Amino acid sequence: MNILVLNGPNLNMLGIREPEVYGYKTYQDLESYIKGFENDYNVSVDIKQSNLEGILIDILHWSNENFDGVIFNAGAFTHYSYALYDAIKSITIPVIEVHLSDLNTREDFRKVSVIKNACKGSIMGLGFKSYEEGLKLLLKEVQENDC
Ligand code: DQA
Repeated sequence: MNILVLNGPNLNMLGIREPEVYGYKTYQDLESYIKGFENDYNVSVDIKQSNLEGILIDILHWSNENFDGVIFNAGAFTHYSYALYDAIKSITIPVIEVHLSDLNTREDFRKVSVIKNACKGSIMGLGFKSYEEGLKLLLKEVQENDC
């Protein structure tokens, strides 16, 4: 099983950006944490990050031919990018939306996810663990569709 973890804008600044919200662990720490899934869940995981909407769209299109599913933290694009919604709808592999923080307890603009309905599931508010719970949902989704 080949899984892509795709991270959007400003996630490369983890550890520096708003540590009171996102913690002091760095983006490299997040990558190592995610890489640990390969052993724990017997999957192959690639990780990509971009601050640019168009690149995220290109990666989503490319992922359709190269992966079984995507775990996607779209960062602030979550709240307004209909282009990302369309990109997720354009591909046939399942996409799970994840967020480190709990969007429902933050600013009002974060309470809306415009990509949510294009995704097969959504996990938030668990810090790094959101990615692990996202992987579990994704594996379930992929296995159900295989039967
Ligand atoms: C985030 C939440 C978004 O609202 C924010 O813009 C981010 C990170 C999260 O992981 O909690 O960049 O997606």
